[in-house]
Amino acid sequence: MSLYWRIFLLNAAVLIVAVLLLLGPVTVSTPVLLGEALVLIAGLAAMLIANAVLLRIGLAPLQRLTRAMATADLLQPGHRTTVTGTGEIAELTKTFNAMLGRLEAERAASSGRVLSAQEAERRRIAQELHDEVGQTLTAVLLQLKHAADHAPVPVREDLHQAQETTRASLDEIRRIARRLRPGVLEELGLHSALRALAAEFTTSRLSVSTHITPGLPHLDPATELVFYRIAQEALTNTARHSGARAVELHMRALPGGGVGLLVRDNGQGLRSAPEGAGLRGMRERALLIGAELQIGAGPSGGTQVRLNVTGSTTEDHPRESAR
Ligand SMILES: Nc1ncnc2c1ncn2[C@@H]1O[C@H](COP(=O)(O)OP(=O)(O)O)[C@@H](O)[C@H]1O
Ligand SMILES: [Mg+2]
Repeated sequence: MSLYWRIFLLNAAVLIVAVLLLLGPVTVSTPVLLGEALVLIAGLAAMLIANAVLLRIGLAPLQRLTRAMATADLLQPGHRTTVTGTGEIAELTKTFNAMLGRLEAERAASSGRVLSAQEAERRRIAQELHDEVGQTLTAVLLQLKHAADHAPVPVREDLHQAQETTRASLDEIRRIARRLRPGVLEELGLHSALRALAAEFTTSRLSVSTHITPGLPHLDPATELVFYRIAQEALTNTARHSGARAVELHMRALPGGGVGLLVRDNGQGLRSAPEGAGLRGMRERALLIGAELQIGAGPSGGTQVRLNVTGSTTEDHPRESAR
């Protein structure tokens, strides 16, 4: 039934009952007697309550839909309002659900484009840092060495100092380039790349342990990159925000098939901090490969990031251990 008729019939029912009561047992004299006034007020109250209750029931699907619209989050897709009844509200709910589906698909496609453009740009910057700046600094290093060999003793010490500084910047540039472009991912495969990442984050104040089950299903390159970037952001957050002493990185087979990544620290936890670009980026990357991502509190405090990939992004044969 349409919303128009539903509201009309609700009001009509209440009014008809009122008129029937007036035609029947209820009499009103002028001026109104106290008893009659009490009966009228009680009748009016009963009518208003009945009207309110019926309207609430009649409009409940609309309220559900409004709530769903207000809380829809394209980065946590898949939530749909259940379609109840028939008529305009059901039609509206169906249209809203369909629109949400289209928006989610569009969002996933556009963030896919943005992320791959970002990866390409990072690759280019890393390449240029490595090739251009790296080569120049290497040349400077050689010139300094040459100059130091021929310089008088008082100047030699200064030149050695300059050599050391140049060498340190060269290392720093190589490190930045490596972080920008996970070259290890292409050269060594995901497992070694994750171990290298863990080693990079290990300090005297933070221990990072990796637990990677051998013989996991093979992941396609796009999925491997998502695993790597999500692990990288999770470890960055642990190092930067958590105050944790230890963080574990697990990669294992899921019971129903597929592969799961878990990064769990023993720090202070998220403490209802608003999501920043880092967490949003993780969600966008997970969406890109249709993976499930949960970011929340760990079983014994701290923070855990769980990424589960099932189905199409994995192939059944295990990766050769020598890769
Ligand atoms: N492992 C963690 N432990 C504690 N707090 C965290 C952790 N990860 C994220 N947070 C909190 O969530 C916020 C948002 O994280 P993020 O989106 O990565 O943005 P950013 O790292 O740039 O601040 C952080 O500012 C921090 O307060
Ligand atoms: Mg961050």
